Amino acid sequence: MAENKKTQLTKFILTDESKRIISNPNVFKQTYTPDLIVERRETTDFYREISVFINYRKPSHLIIKGFPGSGKTVTVNFLADELKKEKHDIEVFTENCSAKSSIDVLQNLTKDFSTVNFHDLQKIFAEKLEKDAIIVLDEIDRSNPRIEDLLYFFSRPKEIIPNFDKNINLILISNNLRWEEGLQDKTRSSLQLKPLIFAPYSIPQIISILKSRVKKGFINERAITEELIKKIAEDTERIKRGDCRVAIETLFYSAQNAEMEGRDEIIEKDINKALKTSIEQADREKLTKLKDTQLLILYSMLYEDELTLTEAYKNYVDIIKEENLPVKPVSKIMVFWILDILENIGLIDKRLDMKKDGKGIPRRNIKIKLKVDRDIIFNELSLRDLRLSRRE
Ligand SMILES: Nc1ncnc2c1ncn2[C@@H]1O[C@H](COP(=O)(O)OP(=O)(O)O)[C@@H](O)[C@H]1O
Ligand SMILES: [Mg+2]
Repeated sequence: MAENKKTQLTKFILTDESKRIISNPNVFKQTYTPDLIVERRETTDFYREISVFINYRKPSHLIIKGFPGSGKTVTVNFLADELKKEKHDIEVFTENCSAKSSIDVLQNLTKDFSTVNFHDLQKIFAEKLEKDAIIVLDEIDRSNPRIEDLLYFFSRPKEIIPNFDKNINLILISNNLRWEEGLQDKTRSSLQLKPLIFAPYSIPQIISILKSRVKKGFINERAITEELIKKIAEDTERIKRGDCRVAIETLFYSAQNAEMEGRDEIIEKDINKALKTSIEQADREKLTKLKDTQLLILYSMLYEDELTLTEAYKNYVDIIKEENLPVKPVSKIMVFWILDILENIGLIDKRLDMKKDGKGIPRRNIKIKLKVDRDIIFNELSLRDLRLSRRE
């Protein structure tokens, strides 16, 4: 009788006799920092720039920009770990700024939550800091706009806090390739940000990153063939602009899919299924981080195959009107700016379209296209309770 009581769960649980592929699941996690990273020109440029501060303590604030999964966070975390190990007498702070204001970030850096007064927090920070510091502000493009006050403070702390004598070098990280253009002139000119662009990974680079994860996280490297590793790299390069996170997660889910079916070898079918899962997961996470306006603009592209910037703006305004949403539409310029951001995150694609007008003169037109699954957008909208009707 007990036999009949078994649920479907048993199908998914590995037993002692099961064939296994994965030895260490942590190796495939987003938060994992490998003991060696695959280096490339971007990495070397970054080391060269930051070494100026390490050697001479002359601040030169950096902004690292690039598409998701181009290795920005891991490269900076890797450097932070290395600096902590070696004795350079530099304090390193890393803070993810998503949805955070100046106050939030300063409270976390000082570990002092007794006040929400920005002026006091600046003083506390200055008093507590014992060494020169590198401050990493990740996902700065998703922070609360009031983060500017903090950036301004870090750009000239010695003028703001009398007798403060430490040097501070900022490293900002952003998906938005034009983020600093949105800063006020005062902040921008005070920061003098030096941009470093991280290009999307090429197929050979993704292959070597995947291989090092296989080595670390698989029981037996032979669980996956060279050809199948190449397939993951090619697929992510083609579909997700070389997003390395998607590649690594696809590798992990492929192994899991094979294990579920009692195999200790990955086959092509496992990869196709895994790729779908990891893309969905990455997209879903990107949508959760969008602001309402950004999500609405994405929604306004839902029923068109391809559209121009002007059409996208019109759709957005129409939807707010038709759905009677309690928001005021943002300006056309703002919508264009947001479309740019959505492209940088990989949620839409832009392409240049040359077409002759009535007089036979060629005109440049930018066409945009949605790159995420509709249902993921609906799901996020309903979670936020932006009650939009499905207009099928
Ligand atoms: N050069 C590299 N060497 C090893 N692993 C890497 C490298 N670049 C990226 N990865 C891995 O790929 C994933 C995505 O990288 P991440 O740094 O989070 O991208 P980004 O911050 O640009 O979105 C992470 O799991 C990271 O460890
Ligand atoms: Mg990152």
